[in-house]
Amino acid sequence: MRSIAINVEKGGVGKTTISAHLAWHFADKDLRVLAIDMDRQSNLRCALGSDFSEIGHVSELLAGEIDVTALPRLALLHSDDGVSEMLGPEANAYIQTFVDELAKLDEFFDVCVIDNPPNWGWINMASMLAADGLLVPIEPALFSMKGAEQVGKTVSAANDYRDTPIHVVGMLANRVLATRSHRDRLDDVRAAVGPVLLDATVHNLTDIEVAMDDQQPVWRRKGVRSGAIDDMCAAMNEIETRMEAADGT
Ligand SMILES: Nc1ncnc2c1ncn2[C@@H]1O[C@H](COP(=O)(O)OP(=O)(O)OP(=O)(O)O)[C@@H](O)[C@H]1O
Ligand SMILES: [Mg+2]
Repeated sequence: MRSIAINVEKGGVGKTTISAHLAWHFADKDLRVLAIDMDRQSNLRCALGSDFSEIGHVSELLAGEIDVTALPRLALLHSDDGVSEMLGPEANAYIQTFVDELAKLDEFFDVCVIDNPPNWGWINMASMLAADGLLVPIEPALFSMKGAEQVGKTVSAANDYRDTPIHVVGMLANRVLATRSHRDRLDDVRAAVGPVLLDATVHNLTDIEVAMDDQQPVWRRKGVRSGAIDDMCAAMNEIETRMEAADGT
């Protein structure tokens, strides 16, 4: 199972939109996909609700209570109140349990997509320790060099506890506007992070927002303009290629 965490300490930049589309992208390739919604807002769960079958809560995973005898091809685990209560001095133990329990699902799925809440906490750390790769969505208007530094610090913090460094799949510019200031901002980001920034960019397009509201990938909705589909598919394909490059498949 190849796994990817979608994580950045910024709200509303498209973590869930990209996570959901990645889950649908791999599902459409007939792969066995496990989607994990680590955010109690449950937006990923909402988006994938009609296509993915819920197999339990993250707290049940942590308690080793997931029934592995009847797992669907498209499965969803979601956060719950139990998880947010697992704070405090025992958080380290929970992080390790999360990593260990997720590893037990390895043989049942081809891909695992983990969406995260915007605040930094043990939940995000657990994802960063369990996942093979990290994808960081950024919004040019909101992105700052401070933000780039923060991503670097988050990666090093996770790597301190990992056997092998997390594979930084890349930063994906989302909600990009066709304005001069966004183009300039993206040039600044590329100058700062180089090839870490994906070539694909996803523009700020109503069709994408409406597709999410309808709990469908943008490429499945009728009457969607090709630009939205082209943007999203280019991003999905580049992420998949980069994930494959890391494991040599
Ligand atoms: N490329 C896009 N074009 C238009 N709307 C978008 C795009 N990407 C995301 N959105 C919209 O922006 C809002 C925030 O997106 P999303 O929920 O994916 O962000 P998030 O990072 O998961 O937010 P949170 O930090 O609250 O979890 C949603 O209404 C979503 O539909
Ligand atoms: Mg979200």
